[in-house]
Amino acid sequence: MIGVGIIGAGGISQSHANGYSQLSDQVEITAVADLDYERAKLAADRWGVKHAFSDYRQMLQLDQIDAVSVCTFTRAHCQPSIDALNAGKHVLVEKPMAATAEEGIQMVKASRQNHRILMIGMKWRFMPEVLAAKAFIDDHKLGKIYYAEAIGWQHRGIPGRTFIQKETAGGGAFMDNGVYTLDTVLYLMGHPIPVSVSGTSANIFGHSPDGGWEAERFNVEDFGTALVRFEEGMTLFFAHSWAINFKEQWQVRIAGGRGSAEIYPFSNPKLRLMHGGYSDLSELTPTDLPPGSIDIGYEIKQFVQAIEHGLPSPVPADTFLYTNLIFDAIYRSTDLGREVNFDLPDLLKS
Ligand SMILES: NC(=O)c1ccc[n+]([C@@H]2O[C@H](COP(=O)([O-])OP(=O)(O)OC[C@H]3O[C@@H](n4cnc5c(N)ncnc54)[C@H](O)[C@@H]3O)[C@@H](O)[C@H]2O)c1
Repeated sequence: MIGVGIIGAGGISQSHANGYSQLSDQVEITAVADLDYERAKLAADRWGVKHAFSDYRQMLQLDQIDAVSVCTFTRAHCQPSIDALNAGKHVLVEKPMAATAEEGIQMVKASRQNHRILMIGMKWRFMPEVLAAKAFIDDHKLGKIYYAEAIGWQHRGIPGRTFIQKETAGGGAFMDNGVYTLDTVLYLMGHPIPVSVSGTSANIFGHSPDGGWEAERFNVEDFGTALVRFEEGMTLFFAHSWAINFKEQWQVRIAGGRGSAEIYPFSNPKLRLMHGGYSDLSELTPTDLPPGSIDIGYEIKQFVQAIEHGLPSPVPADTFLYTNLIFDAIYRSTDLGREVNFDLPDLLKS
């Protein structure tokens, strides 16, 4: 039986508890911790869990805990993850990986040093359409990739709560939802090495008095765009807005000289795969998609299987680090008002 602890008992923790309880023959949730002890205790009672703590470090001392889910707000992803890895526990940490790239780097180092799984809770990696596109691209059906787009236009989606302050979220629309399209496009492209980023991030609607969130607390971006240049001349256009006066539209699109892959996660059809030349381009979208799901329960199943069978992290943290590196570069580019060089950290250099 794998013993699991959940750190952070806010909104998303319930989905993790549900995911683990679907695997009750393999997993037992042993403890829950939240800075707010009452919240931890309520969750423990709701889930039938033995231990509740306000200090997660007490939880990490329990020998019966093999793994933890880190469900804290983003600013508090790094330290609990590192402490858990140093205590010999496997870690599933919610998206985004961290508030900054430097935090992400320290997390990857802790995972490597302790030989423990560090998995990022990026449920889109298991979306059947993403898996089909990945197989298509890995089969060289696109030819040489030269351009990609990762766009999330939310019409009215400012979440409020802990998501609208740097002190808890690290950033805004990028960290909350831009991370989905950005990680997906980088994953599909096979994590090419960025060389520069020209970006902008802004607060357009954050201080609106009629939004339903506490506008005076709002200090993150609700909108941003970036052009990322990669080695060998590829470019990526990335954009996300929590609130734009466009129709809601999310898309991840990749173009190569011999084909394309397009994913529209919230539209129909969700997937379009094309292959061929200028005059004989044809659609090869499969009718049968690979097994997968964006349900958090599916992601948790992958985590538990990896622990049980000694497999590598199903969403490896070092691949996910690129999202935080690009976000940092966009913020830097915004401050400087110009394109900035992308610094690849040593631990990503092979
Ligand atoms: N995968 C998804 O679909 C999905 C959906 C929503 C949120 N998320 C991610 O999950 C994370 C949490 O989101 P949420 O909506 O649950 O936030 P939340 O603000 O509702 O809950 C966060 C909880 O963490 C606790 N906390 C913070 N620091 C702590 C610490 N050091 N020790 C113990 N507890 C601590 C807070 O007290 C709070 O109860 C965010 O990073 C968010 O991006 C993922």
